[in-house]
Amino acid sequence: MVSVLISIVVPTYNERDNIVELIRRIDKALVGVDYEVVVVDDNSPDGTADVAEGLSKDYPVRVIRRPSKLGLATAVLDGVKNSRGDYVVVMDADLQHPPEVIPRMYEELVKGYDIVIASRYVVGGSVRGWGFIRRLISRTAILIAKLLIPKVRGIEDPISGFFMFRREVLEDISLSPKGFKILLEVLVKGRYSRVSEVPYTFGVRVRGTSKLSSKELINYITHLLTLTPYKTLLKFLVVGSLGTLVNLGVLYILRYSLGIQHLIASALSIEASVINNYVLHELWTFKDRRLGSWLVRLIKFHGSTALAVTIQYITSQILYYVLSVESITSQFVGILLGFITNYTLSTRFIWRKSKS
Ligand code: GDD
Ligand code: MN
Repeated sequence: MVSVLISIVVPTYNERDNIVELIRRIDKALVGVDYEVVVVDDNSPDGTADVAEGLSKDYPVRVIRRPSKLGLATAVLDGVKNSRGDYVVVMDADLQHPPEVIPRMYEELVKGYDIVIASRYVVGGSVRGWGFIRRLISRTAILIAKLLIPKVRGIEDPISGFFMFRREVLEDISLSPKGFKILLEVLVKGRYSRVSEVPYTFGVRVRGTSKLSSKELINYITHLLTLTPYKTLLKFLVVGSLGTLVNLGVLYILRYSLGIQHLIASALSIEASVINNYVLHELWTFKDRRLGSWLVRLIKFHGSTALAVTIQYITSQILYYVLSVESITSQFVGILLGFITNYTLSTRFIWRKSKS
């Protein structure tokens, strides 16, 4: 058998009380295997780096010291870059990720998988010690990831912090990770064809404290937005919703502050919302797609919106009167078709992608 080297990348921040037991357990789990541990420490005030350094006399441990707390995801990347193994494991230092699972992950790679995820959410996996809210946040985070990123839809735990992969998966690939969820980045940008999940139990942290803060929740959402292929569609939806608010807000002012009659006030508010949406699309949704004259786009956008509303109206009437569909449903389907029309015309004919 050819000998392969396994690199285990462990990001640490104040894990002095965990690192010794972690390395011992890794060593025990990997008897007879050629491995190295790369600890990436962000200048932990508790002296984790020195403790880890001390272990390098007895175990194949290397420590990368970074000057300050630069974040979990970039720590992982620096560790991967500085490792030499054919296979790379990423795991936490706090023993919530049991090293005893690594041999099973390794077997999957040998079978031909490119990425193996230690998963809390496949049969046999679980989480210990989490209350209802923490579980709900985790599940919701995964649900949103699946909605926004088609590539992770078949994966039960795409935000696990414990995974293993062939070095080729990330070779020469530039990642721009943010916050905590490095695995998402790997799944979206990595070079691989087969992913496997191996169950494990996410343990209770016995020593030290978690570094996961509410700031990471915001980071998570913005991270998903940079990874999703639906960015333009989402922006278009946001602008459309804002336009509705503008429509109603202007109507309110015209009617109740200025006393203008409904017929005229309504028309003016519709126009205000169309202009609002146009400006936001120019400055935000399609800011890189402004080819040619702005006036032509403004006129076309009026046409597109008018057509969308017409389609909405006709669809709603046909569904209701011809097909006897219930009222709200008829209108909703109309809105949907109108939206699709406006979106399609906007992306294909008004703000076209420049041919590069
Ligand atoms: N170098 C470095 N720099 N390491 C860090 C930093 C940092 O800024 N922040 C955290 N770490 C290290 C910790 O020392 C620990 O070894 C590991 O990253 C995970 O940090 P925890 O604070 O224990 O995170 P968690 O348990 O809340 O979250 C874990 O589980 C999530 C699944 O629910 C992580 O594995 C997440 O990646 C995972 O998604
Ligand atoms: Mn933890």
